[in-house]
Amino acid sequence: MPTLASKKRKTTARNGRPAPELIFGDLWDFDPAPETADPKLKPRYELFINGKFVAPKSGKYFDTINPATERKLAEIALAGPADVDAACRAAQRAYDNVWGKLSGRERAKYLFRIARLLQDRAREFAVAETMDGGKPIKESRDFDVPMAAAHFFYHAGWADKLEYVAPGRRVAPLGVVAQVIPWNFPLLMCAWKLAPALAMGNCVVLKPAETTSITALKLAEIIQDAGLPPGVVNFVTGAGATGAALMAHPIPAKVAFTGSTEVGKIIMRSLAGTDKKMTMELGGKAANIVFDDAPLDQAVEGIINGIFFNQGHVCCAGSRLLVHEPVAAKVIAKLKQRIKVLRVGDPLDKNTDVGAINSKEQLAKITKLVASGVKEGAEIYQSPCPLPAKGWYFRPTIFSNVAMSHRIAREEIFGPVLSILTFRTVDEAIEKANNTAYGLSAGVWTDKGSRILKMSTELKAGVVWANSYNKFDPTSPFGGYKESGFGREGGRQGLLDYCQLV
Ligand code: NAI
Ligand code: MG
Repeated sequence: MPTLASKKRKTTARNGRPAPELIFGDLWDFDPAPETADPKLKPRYELFINGKFVAPKSGKYFDTINPATERKLAEIALAGPADVDAACRAAQRAYDNVWGKLSGRERAKYLFRIARLLQDRAREFAVAETMDGGKPIKESRDFDVPMAAAHFFYHAGWADKLEYVAPGRRVAPLGVVAQVIPWNFPLLMCAWKLAPALAMGNCVVLKPAETTSITALKLAEIIQDAGLPPGVVNFVTGAGATGAALMAHPIPAKVAFTGSTEVGKIIMRSLAGTDKKMTMELGGKAANIVFDDAPLDQAVEGIINGIFFNQGHVCCAGSRLLVHEPVAAKVIAKLKQRIKVLRVGDPLDKNTDVGAINSKEQLAKITKLVASGVKEGAEIYQSPCPLPAKGWYFRPTIFSNVAMSHRIAREEIFGPVLSILTFRTVDEAIEKANNTAYGLSAGVWTDKGSRILKMSTELKAGVVWANSYNKFDPTSPFGGYKESGFGREGGRQGLLDYCQLV
């Protein structure tokens, strides 16, 4: 935790103890409150193939770094094409000999076991997730890990009821599925990808992102403990080349990818002409739209949550704010006040609101896009909070006077940066919100139910939240329009993407 030493330190003694101090007039200075559960990290993580941890054939490893301290956490095996091939073959054998033949009822038992074992080790997983990825412990503890368990529970419930997934039709698994996931929700994305695939009877080879492999490999321990037959789930670790080898392997009948639109397009091009099924969950540039009749304090909390949650490393982050002109000045003033009291710093501290940026590369990208906003003439406001001396951090940032043509209004920044635009009419709000290559999510803040219904019909976004933001549930499908991708994850719709109708 940074020492939040204030120039204006007030040390009035009360009951013999110094009073809590106000930092730059607004922020109370608390003692550090780090989460202390042991993340049980190993110095080295191997590949998980055919139910066993195995060394990569190349003998090569890479480091995974704690972005909050810039210190090495562990070594991760680098999977080459031969390892990817071994994983795909193991998955095919498991599908042909065991998993594909098992009844849904039997598969459900394994999924329930995984969910329960994850709950048992929740604190350990939360700490590991925070150390490897940089997100605040209160998020990994209260959101990522419980939601990951919830996805396994939910899909365990489906496994013996698959005849209701497509009423009037029979469903069958696809076979082996290849999955590549990003670094913003490492464990939760594993759960989103694995649970529906397994419930439906598929076997999986999954590649986590290179900066955040640890919780996937810890999940492999749980998969072993749950007694899942060898080869049903395999994890190969590495960077883009490993992902490309997996996506191109002839065995998987389907590929599922979550990550940047750029890489999604590369994968789509490379698979054109093959009969592989695909789902893509790509970038976003969501708008929170605030009307003058909205409950403004509630809206401000939603906007703050929408963009500063997880350092803005969220594909559905509310990275644009469209605010109705009559309340624009008021909302901007409230937002500035609010970001001043966001606590930025040690992600393991239970009071931290905004943690570390996941990688040096991502910090460089955010810094560059913010500089472009200043250069193109938007008005910047940054929290004056102190930042830790070591680690990758970025101040919560708000841009006002943003024009649709600015890069900060069009490109995915994937950092704690909000771009504010104004509108006068409902039609103008819809036009501006839809004027983007993306279409993953949106938020509408208004007192009028009819306006919510109109907006949710006209906004070209997979999810539209009303008077709330970033709310998730395994029963609710999630996915994009336009360059945000195709296919859905969660709910009955998510299961449909992992089966064939027969
Ligand atoms: P990325 O798309 O390169 O990485 C996502 C995953 O794809 C990782 O597991 C990576 O190893 C893998 N990958 C990379 N190249 C591949 C290839 N040719 N074939 C198969 N797999 C490949 O994202 P990156 O570079 O980490 O982040 C860049 C930007 O992408 C971010 O600044 C952000 O704007 C966006 N992004 C969006 C995400 C989302 O959920 N929508 C998630 C992560 C990044
Ligand atoms: Mg890392």
